[in-house]
Amino acid sequence: MSGQSQITSSATSHVLLCTGCSERINPKDVASNFRCRACGDLYEVEYPWSEGAPAAAPMERHPRPVNGPNPSALRYLWQERRTSTLSIDQSGVWRFRDLLPIVSDDKITTLREGNTPLYEMPRSAASLGMNWLLAKHQGMNPTGSFKDAGMTAALSVAVANGYEWVACASTGNTSAAMAAYAARAGLRSLVLIPEGKIAWGKLSQAMDYGSTTIQLRTDFDGCVRVLTEIVQRSPIYLLNSVNPYRLEGQKTPAFEILEQSDWQVPHHIIVPGGNLANCSALGKGFAEMKHLGFIRRMPKISVIQAAGANPLYTSLRDNGGVSLTPVSADTRATAIRIGNPASWKKAVRVIASSGGWCEEVTEREIALAKAEIGAEGIGCEPASAVTLAGLKKLVADGRVGKEETAVLLLTGHTLKDAQYTIDYHRGELLNEREMAGASQAELAQHAGLRREPLVLNADADSILRALDSMAGAPQPA
Ligand code: F0G
Repeated sequence: MSGQSQITSSATSHVLLCTGCSERINPKDVASNFRCRACGDLYEVEYPWSEGAPAAAPMERHPRPVNGPNPSALRYLWQERRTSTLSIDQSGVWRFRDLLPIVSDDKITTLREGNTPLYEMPRSAASLGMNWLLAKHQGMNPTGSFKDAGMTAALSVAVANGYEWVACASTGNTSAAMAAYAARAGLRSLVLIPEGKIAWGKLSQAMDYGSTTIQLRTDFDGCVRVLTEIVQRSPIYLLNSVNPYRLEGQKTPAFEILEQSDWQVPHHIIVPGGNLANCSALGKGFAEMKHLGFIRRMPKISVIQAAGANPLYTSLRDNGGVSLTPVSADTRATAIRIGNPASWKKAVRVIASSGGWCEEVTEREIALAKAEIGAEGIGCEPASAVTLAGLKKLVADGRVGKEETAVLLLTGHTLKDAQYTIDYHRGELLNEREMAGASQAELAQHAGLRREPLVLNADADSILRALDSMAGAPQPA
């Protein structure tokens, strides 16, 4: 490996760039709520080699920054690290640490997150009439969601900055991830969650990993409001996705997708949208890959929201993403039950610059898509299933071509919300109003996917009789 063009992994040279007024600040001067003191907008991490960074300005005419990271050397190094015994090399986030030098190696807290599978989805592809469909399953992370990739990054910064307490407001997955990483680092953690509005699997994780968990009589947006005040009054490090270091970790699945596709850029990336940090992070990851010369074009990044929690969809439809009016959010996909997303401006920029779209999908469409992903032997939580439901619309409208490659971002493991799955298969999930309007074809799809558990007497005859009544019953030899 040519050492000269590499960034050393212990370098921590970066600034925080305000995405609103473009002011650059020293990271140690950032406000505790991670909002710009001048304009109130969010920051992103900028490195000397980042596009538009002052140091890179004289070299703008070059296809990639001279003396910047060297793609061929890095591609080799990142693969090599997978066989190393060092924990930071085994991590699917930190083996890319050359492109996220935000803490020194000795401050990193890792659970060997990342390195998640990119699965083929042949049945879903066939039913969409597509040649290919892939799913990047971020639910296969240590705490069962994509949040681990961002949490290892931001929590390591909390450790480096000497914090003893960390906190987040959450719809469940962020809190599960934060609780685990805080426990590993020996930090105390505070979780604020909306009472009764998160899946039990996620609540149980925060408790198991030892967080102080407080259920507030409000929604996610209300939890964010309260926590923003708390971190301004107390030395507690905020780990919500307004923290730009979260996005540095969450950009690495973009690198993995490219690596797993042999550096062929998929045409489309389809992401669920809640607080809208994930699509922003992936956008940053792909944009950095393009800027540094790893790839020649961006994939189109599309965001799918639940119709009951669709502020970005509404904003883009009504005013092209110029302003966003918060909505009162309601969806059974509780992970994305968010009415006032913090990172909406970043998301608008990613959709616009990559050429993607934003779609909304109904509860019925989410439930069907989730069952289809389950029937592929993969499974995911409801919020992740919006991707397949949204892709169906994008294909039907001709925005995604049937010969193109699309990657669904599956963000959470199916066990996160087992109750949803059980209710669906028992036919108890969707109400009459939600089922009204379903076509005969759609009803048949639901019927074909539902697997209600049978209760039978404990004898072989009863079971064989039940099997006989099924299509494709096992035939005696
Ligand atoms: N999918 C899952 C499973 C999630 O948990 C979330 C967000 C999203 C998608 C949306 O990602 O917010 O970056 O647009 N969950 C957060 C939480 C809000 O608190 O766990 P986003």
